[in-house]
Amino acid sequence: MTSYSSFSDGTRAVHAGLPDPEVGEPFLPGPVFAAPYHLDPVTGPGANGYARTEHPTRQALESAIGALEGAPTLVFSSGQAAITALLLAVLRTGDTVAIPSDGYFTVRAFADGFLRDLGVRTLLVPTAGPYPDFTGVRLVLLETPANPGLDVCDVRTLSEAAHAAGALVAVDNTTATPLGQNPLALGADLVVASGTKALTGHSDVLLGYVSATDPELLTRVETWRKQTGAVPGAFDAWLAHRSIATLDLRLARQTANAAAVAELLLSRSDVTGVRWPGLPSDPSYPVASAQMRRIPGVVSFDLGSAERVGRFLAAAKLVFAATSFGGVHTTADRRAQWGDDTPPGFVRFSCGIEDTADLLADITAALSS
Ligand SMILES: Cc1ncc(COP(=O)(O)O)c(C=O)c1O
Repeated sequence: MTSYSSFSDGTRAVHAGLPDPEVGEPFLPGPVFAAPYHLDPVTGPGANGYARTEHPTRQALESAIGALEGAPTLVFSSGQAAITALLLAVLRTGDTVAIPSDGYFTVRAFADGFLRDLGVRTLLVPTAGPYPDFTGVRLVLLETPANPGLDVCDVRTLSEAAHAAGALVAVDNTTATPLGQNPLALGADLVVASGTKALTGHSDVLLGYVSATDPELLTRVETWRKQTGAVPGAFDAWLAHRSIATLDLRLARQTANAAAVAELLLSRSDVTGVRWPGLPSDPSYPVASAQMRRIPGVVSFDLGSAERVGRFLAAAKLVFAATSFGGVHTTADRRAQWGDDTPPGFVRFSCGIEDTADLLADITAALSS
């Protein structure tokens, strides 16, 4: 397969994981719907035996994401399937895992339940620090930018500290996407992410992945996946691959919209706590601007109460009330409704790819309603 690694983001996204051109064949081969494949009963399986282990549509998607993350990749049926696979493949009874105190809340719930029951200790670490001594920690999981508060951490510095203490480092790259930052190039051992968000961006598939350069580490995760079975189906894998072609374009518009929305919100006295790592006044700006190649389209802010968030969303024509983020439609999520540890009026706002002027006018009208 031709390598496009020397090209820029848009070109790499369009060509990621595509087979070399062949006359009469499509650019992106359609989904292969198969569980078992024909076998040679004497010699056993060839390239494909059974779809939980081998699947051409899934493998093409893995090549695509792997090309963008810069390492071999395994895809999973959701982001949580990928994160829990990584944690359970790496951690043993008696180990300590460091996880963000302000990251995706289901990871904390998993650590506080199943991991604790397995005898794994959890150290909760704020993304913006202060950071503990990692001595005795087996795995440090970072999430940057953290969802939903959007703090950012320095992956290179933390990876050096964790490695010096003998710990592995994994980075949740969901919000940034591989076009926003490449944690493996910054020193992390593993990348884990939900592809449900901006990577696929159409709010129509659940997807997760793990990438790693160390073949031994990735084989552990692959064995876990093979034996527990959380693989995405053929159609989801194909939809995801098809969506990646437009990743660069989608992110560009989302970032431009987020920059304009953050400025608008900052200028209003009836909105507080505006966070966007691309704002020069944001506490995350110095690290984000040095570490990230682009800032994602997610902004957070506080409207003071659940009722005001409700009024805002009822009045807005271009902002859907929905959880998740990173899609082509602009959405807003009042996180406290999920039991996330946020104030009642806290909103995670995900900019879509609508026209910037339309979005600003709609938000302005809805906030003033
Ligand atoms: C940062 C982060 N990681 C992981 C996940 C889990 O992904 P999924 O919903 O695809 O299981 C999410 C979901 O919101 C997330 O925001």
